[in-house]
Amino acid sequence: MNFDKIRQDFPILNKVTYLDSACMSLKPIQVIDKINEYYKEYPGCGGRGMHSISKKVDEEVLNARKEIQKLLNIKKEDQIVFSKNTTESLNLVYNGLKINGGIITTDKEHNSNLVPVIRLCKKNGLKHTTIGSKDGIFDLEEFKEKMNRDVKLVSMVHTSNLDGSTIPAKEIIKIAHENGALTMLDGAQSAPHKEIDLKKLDVDLFACSGHKMLGPTGIGMLYGKEEILDKMEQFILGGETVTNSTYNSYEIEKVPNRFEAGLQHYSGIIGFGEACRYLRKVGMDNIVKQELKVNQIIDDGLRNIEGVSILGPEDVGLRPGITSFNYKNKDVHQIALLLDHSKKIMMRSGQHCVHSWFNKHNIKGSVRASLYLYNNEEDANKLVDGFKQVTKILG
Ligand code: ALA
Repeated sequence: MNFDKIRQDFPILNKVTYLDSACMSLKPIQVIDKINEYYKEYPGCGGRGMHSISKKVDEEVLNARKEIQKLLNIKKEDQIVFSKNTTESLNLVYNGLKINGGIITTDKEHNSNLVPVIRLCKKNGLKHTTIGSKDGIFDLEEFKEKMNRDVKLVSMVHTSNLDGSTIPAKEIIKIAHENGALTMLDGAQSAPHKEIDLKKLDVDLFACSGHKMLGPTGIGMLYGKEEILDKMEQFILGGETVTNSTYNSYEIEKVPNRFEAGLQHYSGIIGFGEACRYLRKVGMDNIVKQELKVNQIIDDGLRNIEGVSILGPEDVGLRPGITSFNYKNKDVHQIALLLDHSKKIMMRSGQHCVHSWFNKHNIKGSVRASLYLYNNEEDANKLVDGFKQVTKILG
């Protein structure tokens, strides 16, 4: 795979070193063109109109669903519900699925898969159990001990945005199912970076965001097994969610339409489909290899600087896309700002919406380099060299 050529699809890389893809990926020109195509060639409404522009939107939306279906190996495209992002997908489940038992999460949940759980458990008197990590790695033994038939949902972050580590999802799902629990994965950081086979994983629900996988902002999806989506309630009702209504009744639409209320983000959906097509063309295995190659240089370089501590597993192979680090208790935002202002290196700093983990470990935050297919060795060297200079300023 020619990654130098891939870089040319992302024009902003001529201006900056971009290491913040866990927050927001860049968009290739192919996706930008596809979004523009919608606005230029068929800027209409899907799902309603009989005219040819409307029908073209329907056709393109269906194509997008099929692209996502292929990327994630989903049985039927109707198992894909479009949402605004992973957060909205997860909230759809917590508001729509009847959960009458305990919920298990990890100790590294993003607020989007923690706060709704806390609220739901408090409201309905459910038990919430958190599984810890050992040396940054999910503690499978603790999970086995704590899993029992009172647990009704195992809902976990697949790949952590905090340190890039991935949980052993297949094993966890198997154990959860043996105990009669449903399973959900927050795939916001896994779907963009690794091969996801939802048929093989056998997970019941899976959420991800377009904007972290080369797609536009404001579009994400929820995958669900048919029997689960069928019994889930909508939490937004409106146009296109019903087949008929009278002044005091309505007939609900089939899945996924019943969950996609109101006029949709058509350019977003179509751009998301194009992004998935691009990812499939490059190949997820090639993407992981490229990220690991670059991250290895970052890891080696930073580790050799006295005062640097890296979060998560020591083995960079267990967190190929992310190096999240601290330097001598120095202010993480100051580090990120210095790297931006002196070297045009873009990185996120802070608690990355995982406040709970930082609170537990009494750490103020971290600076995070998060990679994608367009990063190369030069980016890694720029970060290491730039950071060495920053340490001279910070002392
Ligand atoms: N979850 C996103 C991040 O980690 C916003 O930056």
